[in-house]
Amino acid sequence: MSEAEAANRLMRLAREIARHDRLYHGEDAPEISDSEYDALIAENRALEAAFPQLVRADSPSKRVGAAPAASLAKVAHARPMLSLDNAFSSEEVAEFLGRIRRFLSLSADAEVALTAEPKIDGLSCSLRYEDGELVLAATRGDGSVGEDVTANVRTIRDVPQKLPTPGPSRKREGRSVIEVRGEVYMSKADFAALNARQEAAGGKIFANPRNAAAGSLRQKDPAVTAARPLRFLAHGWGELREPLAETQWDAMRRLSSLGFPVSDLLTRVASVDAALAHYARIEQARADLPFDIDGVVYKVDRLDLQERLGFANRAPRWGLAHKFPAERAETTLENIEIQVGRTGKLTPVGRLKPVGVGGVIVQNVTLHNRDEIARLGLRIGDRVRIQRAGDVIPQVVENLTRDEKRAAYNFPDHCPMCDSEAVAEEGEVDVRCTGGLICPAQRIERLKHFVSRGAMDIEGLGEKSIAEFVALGWLGGPADIWRLKAHRDELVGREGWKDRSVDNLLAAIEAKIGFDPARLLFGLGIRHVGAVTARDLMRAFGTIEELERVARSESAAGELSAVEGVGAVVAGAIVDFFHEPHNRDEVAQLLALAKPAAFVSDTRQTEWTGKTIVFTGSLETMSRDEAKAQAERLGARAAGSVSAKTDLVVAGPGAGSKLKKAAELGVPVVDEAEWAAIVAAA
Ligand code: IVH
Repeated sequence: MSEAEAANRLMRLAREIARHDRLYHGEDAPEISDSEYDALIAENRALEAAFPQLVRADSPSKRVGAAPAASLAKVAHARPMLSLDNAFSSEEVAEFLGRIRRFLSLSADAEVALTAEPKIDGLSCSLRYEDGELVLAATRGDGSVGEDVTANVRTIRDVPQKLPTPGPSRKREGRSVIEVRGEVYMSKADFAALNARQEAAGGKIFANPRNAAAGSLRQKDPAVTAARPLRFLAHGWGELREPLAETQWDAMRRLSSLGFPVSDLLTRVASVDAALAHYARIEQARADLPFDIDGVVYKVDRLDLQERLGFANRAPRWGLAHKFPAERAETTLENIEIQVGRTGKLTPVGRLKPVGVGGVIVQNVTLHNRDEIARLGLRIGDRVRIQRAGDVIPQVVENLTRDEKRAAYNFPDHCPMCDSEAVAEEGEVDVRCTGGLICPAQRIERLKHFVSRGAMDIEGLGEKSIAEFVALGWLGGPADIWRLKAHRDELVGREGWKDRSVDNLLAAIEAKIGFDPARLLFGLGIRHVGAVTARDLMRAFGTIEELERVARSESAAGELSAVEGVGAVVAGAIVDFFHEPHNRDEVAQLLALAKPAAFVSDTRQTEWTGKTIVFTGSLETMSRDEAKAQAERLGARAAGSVSAKTDLVVAGPGAGSKLKKAAELGVPVVDEAEWAAIVAAA
């Protein structure tokens, strides 16, 4: 995956994760399972590890939970409420201890005592006691700021309103402060009874006990909470004036003696093996427990070691959630549907006869791609074994009726959305629709790219307007942009539009008649044809018409590959694009309406001619393609990685390893503003 693709995917992941955070935390109405959510987080983490320069300050990896709901008062936590890293295997648990030993400079066989206890599937809550009085109860929120649920928590019987003795520190240092943290949850039986009552009363039905607990706690009216059977189990603490004890184990016993419920499956173990044995015991007990759990939490027992280990990112180094493994089930594959993504990728989705796996009903599985279907020999009607692992979307692990003599599934060679040809590039598993310009699934994305600053640069035509015009049926392909003027009067009447803004937009569109053909070509969004390649192609062929003629000729492969920077893959993508009649039709309309000028190579001789420039970080004032095109106009070459041959690095926010490399090699580094000055001066 290229850096640009990664940046794009990360941006989408951030949006998707934020949406699911909102559904889960804000509305208590999740649309995806925990494992699907975990898969998004894992993908985000893997991409950020591969492209550290793309990690943004507001990345989902730096957030915990979701921003607090608007209806409850917000409270800042005295100590942040963080999350735990997950492990899914004994190996990962061993690695966790390995990391701890290395961090503490202990020998490789040193045992570190741990506590182990169930991971309750509820929502975490912080209870603040001052001088022994419960003064504040808050949800986790985004980890720094939660919601004030004090009045609601006062209705939970498990939660002490007052602590036995205010503590000896009172006179010496003023108030005593203890913040106890734990999980608010609902038992399985209470959940079933609540849903039955809700159903009878025509109220909201909750998806699982955790959502029911969350929905019940985050109420504006404490009377509602009081009527819901919530429970509390302590698992830690926040701010303390005085330490509770020297070990986690003793601290938990202290909390228990103060009246807080503590899990009776909490234990202390001296080795990894003993920890894993306790994990097995808890897993055995799982089905019979009165409440839902989804794993086992290990914590370093000695609090001085916890202190030294501290936190990394959003989770403590001294704690780990060991999740229960994948759960499997058998069912029938009833259909294979093809979804077309916003970038044209065809993804097969298996529709299943609904089946319960680990407490959720699964009816869809991703089949990933054409190769995966072939690997499993899947056909509609097969019996399949599916798995819901802690960290992945439900998937088919085995085809149980593979040996039945039935015809293989034919993966479509045409896009189900627009009927354009769908092809896989050589060496690629993904099949993509080649009808980018006209495919409804890709329409908004394509139009956005077409009007973007590096391409046609049409001011005033942002994503919102594009979506609005697409919905109205005014915009199908890019050629329609020059037909928008026919809708002028209708548009003026619409919300958010005035005579002035409409005329400005239409003028910006008209102004692009007779524009640079290389920018128009780039705007077509042909796979692999970036701003620089588009210029190279125009320099070689002069017009888009000529490029099309070459791409459709017998000698296309040779002629295209003769252009600098165009290899077999790029040539193939250009041929595929012009092979598709819908695309040719759209291009013809576009050329007739936008009438691009004759191509002028604007590469000048400057002091940058022949130099190599690297752009890194998230550029804020220009797209990466635009930046590359600017470099090219100065006669310079834009490269992807920093080496001794690099002459300049332009770094946006969040630049990482490349910046370090530049410093090591003594390559000069400028920011975007300085780069803009260089471009203007050259
Ligand atoms: S300890 C620094 N212990 O799981 C955070 N958490 O995935 C230390 N949870 O936010 C948390 N049971 O809401 C801890 N026995 C347990 C837990 C537990 C459930 C929740 C908690 C936490 C989340 C982390």
